[in-house]
Amino acid sequence: MRKNIVAGNWKMNCTLPEGKKLTSEVIHMVEDEVKNDAHVVLIPPFTHLSSIHSLIGSSNKVLLGAQNCHQSKSGAFTGEISADMLASVGVTHVILGHSERREYFGESDELLAQKVKFVLDNDLTPIFCCGEKLEVRESGAHEKLVGDQVAKALFNLSPDEIKKVVIAYEPVWAIGTGVTASAGQAQEMHAFIRNQIAFKYDQSLAEEISILYGGSVKPDNAKEIFSQPDVDGGLIGGASLKSRDFTNIVKAFD
Ligand code: PGA
Repeated sequence: MRKNIVAGNWKMNCTLPEGKKLTSEVIHMVEDEVKNDAHVVLIPPFTHLSSIHSLIGSSNKVLLGAQNCHQSKSGAFTGEISADMLASVGVTHVILGHSERREYFGESDELLAQKVKFVLDNDLTPIFCCGEKLEVRESGAHEKLVGDQVAKALFNLSPDEIKKVVIAYEPVWAIGTGVTASAGQAQEMHAFIRNQIAFKYDQSLAEEISILYGGSVKPDNAKEIFSQPDVDGGLIGGASLKSRDFTNIVKAFD
């Protein structure tokens, strides 16, 4: 059975005191108000991970994620963070291939294939992001592009490995813009991604993989998007910085 997940990607926002306040509020609201059993993953900047882990330590609903990691175990890579460092501070999930990493830091599908493998080898769950820019959507090539992103980064994995990956479909034109993909557009792409996995591996394996939607998810559109049969939750940016909005998005599964 695949899991419903709502992950909050804080990006480069929040000082540590702000992040601790946000975390405490989210934990209380989620534990007091949320009835469903979705996994909630908070994904703060690296500097906050250890402190945030202490805060969520006793919560059985809230998990900790990181926004990126390097593809090597250790060594002379100034400014980078490895998967086992993340595991050692309580991280369970790692975002890989966010469109901002692809766009501003030149991350390729080939590099992401290495990162995904390394993260899995360290018993962490990759949240692998894919999605097309507006010009690709307008040209009608979005399925081809997203299919290639998924195939290049994930299809060298064994069945047991790919089963552990979470995929986030995030159309770049919907990220931080206030323009959300319609529930129908999200469902169509999620079904397409799941079919690609079924074609490469098999249908029952494809049914086990959580595919999240990301891009301007807000409390007022979460329910409709999450109710689509192939949408298993969301990767939330802006709205994850407000505890009330984020909790209301988690409550969309109630
Ligand atoms: P947004 O960001 O919710 O602010 O659009 C989503 C993301 O980048 O993961």
